[in-house]
Amino acid sequence: MAGRIRDADIQLVRERVDIAEVIGERVTLRNAGGGNLKGLCPFHDERSPSFNVTPARGVYHCFGCGVGGDAITFLTELDGLTFVEAIERLAARAGLKLTYEDIDGRVRRGPSGQPGLKQRLLEAHTAAALFYTGQLVEPEAQIARRFLADRGFDRDAAATFGCGYAPDAWDALTKHLRAKGFTAEELTGAGLAKPSRTGNLIDRFRRRLVWPIRDSSGSTIGFGARKLFEDDQGPKYLNTPETPLYKKSQVLYGIDLARREIAKTGRVVIVEGYTDVMACHLAGVPVAVATCGTAFGAEHIRILRRFLFDSESANGRIVFTFDGDEAGQRAALKAFDEEQRFVSQTYIAVTPDGQDPCELRQHRGDAAVRELIERHTPLVQFALDREIAKHDLDTAEGRLHATRAIAPLLARVKDRGLVDEYIGDYAGRLGKEKAELRRAVAGAGADRPAEQVPAPRRSRDADSTQLRAQREVLKLALQAPQVAGPYFDVVDATPYSDPNYRAVREAVEAAGGAAKAAAGANWIAAVSGACTEIAAQALVNELAVEELRLDREPDAVYVRTLLARIQRPVVEAEVDDLKRRLQRINPSTDKDEYMSLFGKLMGLEQHARSLRDQAANAVE
Ligand code: GTP
Ligand code: MN
Repeated sequence: MAGRIRDADIQLVRERVDIAEVIGERVTLRNAGGGNLKGLCPFHDERSPSFNVTPARGVYHCFGCGVGGDAITFLTELDGLTFVEAIERLAARAGLKLTYEDIDGRVRRGPSGQPGLKQRLLEAHTAAALFYTGQLVEPEAQIARRFLADRGFDRDAAATFGCGYAPDAWDALTKHLRAKGFTAEELTGAGLAKPSRTGNLIDRFRRRLVWPIRDSSGSTIGFGARKLFEDDQGPKYLNTPETPLYKKSQVLYGIDLARREIAKTGRVVIVEGYTDVMACHLAGVPVAVATCGTAFGAEHIRILRRFLFDSESANGRIVFTFDGDEAGQRAALKAFDEEQRFVSQTYIAVTPDGQDPCELRQHRGDAAVRELIERHTPLVQFALDREIAKHDLDTAEGRLHATRAIAPLLARVKDRGLVDEYIGDYAGRLGKEKAELRRAVAGAGADRPAEQVPAPRRSRDADSTQLRAQREVLKLALQAPQVAGPYFDVVDATPYSDPNYRAVREAVEAAGGAAKAAAGANWIAAVSGACTEIAAQALVNELAVEELRLDREPDAVYVRTLLARIQRPVVEAEVDDLKRRLQRINPSTDKDEYMSLFGKLMGLEQHARSLRDQAANAVE
């Protein structure tokens, strides 16, 4: 695979790949009008969406944190792929075959200096998953098949979730993958093998039922493995260790199967284990996910919110299911601490008789699982009830203590309407006046620091009419090159007062000019590629997705008006300059120079007048 990918192929990849689809696998995108899509930025933590994708131009840009690029950049930045790996991944999904050109035998390497490591680890996982599913039909795997059948999972279910069997051998998988060309470093790096005490490489998972753990795009990034044999000394479940692919604080088992439904319904159900995810999906709750051997934490919330498109206006619902045990409840209450905005949308479903969803389905069928999820209690109420249950409400002292216990919980709920509702309910139960409970809540909240509200990001550009017009002109050259090009290309970089704007203007020229360009991903990539500064490159993406300041298709009049507006100050300054020079010249001694400058001034004044006329067009 030596050589570099042909430029023509890279262009074809950009044209064929639907950036909305690629990004949509990681972030729920909603229509934002003007051909734009919006979502919560995967590169920074935010509460309302400022991450924009413009499919027609193949670019994304976040107005919150400034990241931006095309489908290739997205994969390199979010998944840590090299440039070549990103192209290969995109080409594969678009069904394109790449041609590699051999340039003096050098292999092009990505900026990470680790060509293909992540891609290799992914390939190793794909091969391992295939190996494990193949093993599940072997006679030795009888016990694994029985385990699945006992829990109500038939062959189809096992296939959907990719269940497999890790055989009873020291290095069955290791040998298999080594024969396929994977190196020892790749296998240990992937967490699939580890050195034994004698130094030989051995399989991490042996004699176990295995579940492939997939990321939201469906790539296998790790495994969960359950003990099957009594004499297995290891823990009940073993998971892949932390690797470049597998970060347990971010892994959600089942997200690949659930993400579309989560986005569609605005709901997600959190369960405890692999078997519970399977049971829920099979029972008609296709939005279930589970963490893998770790508590549900802030990072998991962050990821889910991207799929839920959780924002102030959307009413996403997160239902935690617990088999009523103390650990599960603690986990739910921890979510209460993690993220306040999450609270009003968080619900708890506690299973009867301490059964988990998998057991519930086995004993009472699919409908019982669906009912469990339907019967959910708001997290706030759950937390309040738990506090109240600790006190004897038949005594005045008990009621006082209960009031003191719930006041700080209520004080932490930011949704005012919700707090009021609860104050009404609980005042009644505690035999208190509403006003009294409200005072207690206010008192409990007094020492809490005010929420930090970040100032809206508003660049000074937007405040200046002149800079705004310059910006709009650049947007036109990027977004509507054929309309804008003929006028844009003939105005040089002088009118652009911001150095970054000037750099973009120059990059357009270096990319061959706007007039000859076709709108789309390749044009944006060409201009971006012609930028010599990273700041200008980022600006290109920003300008490519930012909506034009008019709500119709841009036409020549619009382009010329804006160009006139940005040129006007330049030409007027030149007029002033010429006038000053003329004043210093003595017309009788330097007649020739005077006449030539005078002629120039006439011409410039005429130009300034026509620019003034054009600039006065009411186009917005
Ligand atoms: P069965 O009890 O066999 O039906 O499976 P289960 O999934 O119901 O098991 P359990 O409720 O005990 O565990 C739920 C989840 O917690 C599992 O899917 C694992 O992700 C995790 N877990 C359980 N035991 C262990 C363990 O020993 N180590 C680790 N790392 N995770 C575990
Ligand atoms: Mn369980």
